Amino acid sequence: MIHSRIAGTGSYLPERVMTNQELEKLVDTSDEWIVERTGIAQRHIAADDQTCSDLAQRAAEQAMARAGIAATDIDLVIVATSTPDHVFPSTACRLVERLGIPGGAVAFDVAAACSGFIYALDVANRFIQTGGAGRALVIGSELFSRILDWSDRGTCVLFGDGAGAVVLEAAESPGILSTHLHADGRQTDLLNVPWGVSQGYEQLPGERGKVRMKGNEVFRVAVRTLGGLVDETLAANGLKRGDVDWLIPHQANIRIMTATAKKLGLPAERMVSTVADHGNTSAASIPLALNEAVSDGRIKRGDLLLLEAFGAGFTWGSALIRY
Ligand code: ACO
Repeated sequence: MIHSRIAGTGSYLPERVMTNQELEKLVDTSDEWIVERTGIAQRHIAADDQTCSDLAQRAAEQAMARAGIAATDIDLVIVATSTPDHVFPSTACRLVERLGIPGGAVAFDVAAACSGFIYALDVANRFIQTGGAGRALVIGSELFSRILDWSDRGTCVLFGDGAGAVVLEAAESPGILSTHLHADGRQTDLLNVPWGVSQGYEQLPGERGKVRMKGNEVFRVAVRTLGGLVDETLAANGLKRGDVDWLIPHQANIRIMTATAKKLGLPAERMVSTVADHGNTSAASIPLALNEAVSDGRIKRGDLLLLEAFGAGFTWGSALIRY
């Protein structure tokens, strides 16, 4: 049996920081409201000339350097994103060229909104387990600033830009212990971008190309669903509450994250939280948080990690990992 393990992590955040105070000038909101309801104090915003592949490239380069491998060693690239450079080619294909990965590698994007990184990790793990790839780059990269309605206080205060990456490689022992993916398309009206290439063909994007969310309804579904996902992941691995060393949740809202940590029986300090500084970076938020806690030495080799996400679709998923 071939397993996969995380060989290196990396991330990149655009230079520009946007504080809650700046948002007070754009919409009817306050730093106090945003911090209290979401835990977010600031977010990073990409420069006008930066694209999804720019951010992804920086994160991938760091992950490869930390893994001690060259681009020529990579044979699979998966980019999780809702904000790709182009309709096609995929952002992953652009990275093959930009990073100098040999032609003939497998490369594609995954669209599962905020759960995208977990989906991509699951797919890469299966490629490695079945011998279809030996070393994979799994990346979450997002520029939600491009799809925000900056006059909608219910959404524009929540999101930020960034990218995170891991190098996954074949190993004799796991690594990735289990992954759990789910989707339910019955509540698309609660969270969507109501424009696309085929459905929105007659219209220019304008405000139809922006995130729309009924936040409080999404909140309730997210907390309930993530609670069930924690139970499912623990049961599948014969674990009980408190057995996991670190929770690395999708960074949507500190209240959702804390509820999941409680469900998992973990104290707040065992949950990696970057939401205050990054906001919600959608598919990038988990690998960004993972890289932060690996880089500052909190997460050590051998630790048991639970990664989980919930996002538009709805989609949700988790991964239990022996780091
Ligand atoms: N500043 C000030 N007031 C605001 C703001 C704001 N930025 N936004 C909303 N309000 C007001 C509302 O208008 C409402 O006022 P009212 O009572 O007079 O009607 C009041 O604050 C409460 O609004 P709620 O929406 O009920 O606030 P809530 O506590 O639910 O927080 C939030 C809103 C932060 C959006 C929360 O619901 C949330 O985090 N939802 C889940 C987000 C999520 O997880 N999304 C999935 C991942 S994202 C993806 O997949 C792309």
